[in-house]
Amino acid sequence: MHARRVAVIVTLLLGSPLLAAAQPKSITLPPDHAFSDLAPGPGVETTERACRSCHSTDYVVTQPRGDARQWEGVVAKMMSVYGANITADEAKTIVQYLSRQYGK
Ligand code: HEC
Repeated sequence: MHARRVAVIVTLLLGSPLLAAAQPKSITLPPDHAFSDLAPGPGVETTERACRSCHSTDYVVTQPRGDARQWEGVVAKMMSVYGANITADEAKTIVQYLSRQYGK
């Protein structure tokens, strides 16, 4: 009886979103199209990590080139509209990287 109750509690805990949130998961993304590889440069790792979790970086490399203001708008939209998990510091690095590599 007691063991059974413990088992139920453990099962509930394992399925709980709280516990899931406490254990970061690591996933390996499938290879992307070669043309969507981000250009090398300072900030590329941050951009790769932050901008490839929801979609291919072909969304980035096929955009019309734009200045920092345009890229700031894109990054802000990814964060506020789609909930991209990006810190303010990372956003700054990403905007600098994008406007340097994909700027006008
Ligand atoms: C939380 C998920 C998520 C993350 C992380 C994310 N995006 Fe997006 N992004 C989206 C969605 C959803 C769309 C719209 C897809 C569609 O319309 O087919 C999109 C579309 C875009 C587009 C196409 C233009 C537009 O505004 O719709 C660009 C450019 C883009 N993302 C760039 C980025 C960059 C740069 C980053 C990293 C800072 C990033 N995304 C990170 C979800 C995300």
